[in-house]
Amino acid sequence: MRQYTSEEIRSKYLDFFKSKNHQVIPNASVIPENDPTSLFTTAGMQPLVPYLLGEPHPQGKRVVNVQRCIRTGDIEEIGDDTHCTFFEMLGNWSLGDYFKKESIRWSWEFLTSEEWLHIPKERLFFTVFAGDQDVQRDEESYSLWLDLGVDAEHISFQSKEHNWWGPVGSTGPCGPDTEIFIDTGKEKCSESCDPSCDCGKYLEIWNNVFMEYYKNDKGEFTPLSQKNVDTGMGLERVLVALNGGTVYNTDLFEEILKKIHELSDQKDVKPTESKDFRIIADHIRTATFILGDPKGITPSNVDQGYVLRRLIRRAIRYSKLLNIEEGGIAQISQAVIEKYSSVYPELNENRDKIIQELNLEEQKFGKTIRQGLKEFEKVIKRLDEKTTVIDGASAFKLYDTYGFPIELTQELATEKGFTVDINEYQERFEEHRKKSQKGAEQKFKGGLADHTEETTRLHTATHLLHEALRRVLGDSVEQRGSNITSKRLRFDFSFGRKLLPEEISEVETIVNQAIKDDLTVVNQEMTLEEAKQQGAIGLFESKYGEIVKVYSIGEFSKEVCGGPHVKHTGELGTFKITKEESSSSGVRRIKAVLK
Ligand code: ALA
Repeated sequence: MRQYTSEEIRSKYLDFFKSKNHQVIPNASVIPENDPTSLFTTAGMQPLVPYLLGEPHPQGKRVVNVQRCIRTGDIEEIGDDTHCTFFEMLGNWSLGDYFKKESIRWSWEFLTSEEWLHIPKERLFFTVFAGDQDVQRDEESYSLWLDLGVDAEHISFQSKEHNWWGPVGSTGPCGPDTEIFIDTGKEKCSESCDPSCDCGKYLEIWNNVFMEYYKNDKGEFTPLSQKNVDTGMGLERVLVALNGGTVYNTDLFEEILKKIHELSDQKDVKPTESKDFRIIADHIRTATFILGDPKGITPSNVDQGYVLRRLIRRAIRYSKLLNIEEGGIAQISQAVIEKYSSVYPELNENRDKIIQELNLEEQKFGKTIRQGLKEFEKVIKRLDEKTTVIDGASAFKLYDTYGFPIELTQELATEKGFTVDINEYQERFEEHRKKSQKGAEQKFKGGLADHTEETTRLHTATHLLHEALRRVLGDSVEQRGSNITSKRLRFDFSFGRKLLPEEISEVETIVNQAIKDDLTVVNQEMTLEEAKQQGAIGLFESKYGEIVKVYSIGEFSKEVCGGPHVKHTGELGTFKITKEESSSSGVRRIKAVLK
């Protein structure tokens, strides 16, 4: 059977949509910009929210790209045939242009026509939205699939739980979708098995979302000013659909798994089949992309840094099972960098940092494990007289505080003639998970869809701060990240040391003067080269030749940005820096408010 490669699919997808008049837009960072609704970019639409809400996109109404995405909701599930914490999403969008008819026809053409992927029609299955009290049944999509010659038995209506997508946070654009599945050829798990079942018979490969609603903070769905299409197709999964096998059989994992095999002592194991190998490959691939991102995330105990830490430590734990020596995960990461650098050059640019951080984290984790072993001994001593069952609370503490996976605790327990109360452990685990999910939801209100006056003002203040920092600290200051809620702005920038108190107050004075001057904010569209020539800052993620939006604040600042902004700086009030701290090596973080 002909085997497709990832390069081939990426370029076929872009070529197909270029032939349908789509412009290729850049691939955004895996760390969302100005979007506290989620820690990572989880879908190609995320950086496009302002345009889905009606702001004109400088590249036009039809855009396409391949977006690197991270979804870590169920890290513990990784190791099956089709889920990855990092994946590439092929996406095409209509920003108030075409709608269901073109979207469905083009998906069909791309998947089935001989010139493109040529997937046999009999293998494709489709789901459409069944309707509910908020939004009616999607008869239109159903008819469109039928018109293309799809057998009615291959189409099923599904509830909101399955066929509705978005918003990413609690508010934002969303809508009913139609999803495309491939029949993997596996047996049905039951008589009623259909594409909504996750037994593995039907694999979702593409989702076409008809984004025409906005979910507001009261939970109501109101029509958007324009009808959009947002699609997402998983690169790894399309390769599975075309080549058979699992995501680990694709060229994307080939060298990574080979490296793990080389470093491990399990020479008889087939790397693509082993859950341990798969977990290491998946997690190191994701960790490499997070560490390699220009936003400068490093392992920590909060937010993205915490997810990164979990991924690395979990990979290390599994690498121990294969007797991979210290320093091994950094070598595996090198294989990731080699595979992906031609598409994602930042991995190669940040190679030293990636390797350094992985090695450092491995050393830190080694120390924690040693402390955990001591704690384990204490637990055993405490129990010794009374029982041979380790209670769930102690097992959970070992997991939560010392990073011991339950399997490790069980193994150690067995060696000493003990068992673990696994039910109680699970209860604690669930309790904790629910609590942290709740915390995450509360924490990440707002986001790109949040165009309240407060966030708009803080957005403009961020431009003033950026420029003021460059005036005070020099041109080496570059934006590394920005995150705005309705209460404060947070700005990360490259700079090697702590700011002096007088530098902080000078920055505040400059910003407040610019506010007092009541400067006019205007935006213009131009090519990236023109923007650069005019001295605009904040250029990362844009490509040459691309049309970008440039916001000028009087003569004070000029920055490439999607907006939105206030019209006059006089609307901002008084600017105050509330915190200045280190964010990661070579990157400082400022939090500031407007009063
Ligand atoms: N945004 C849609 C998804 O992630 C396409 O499935």
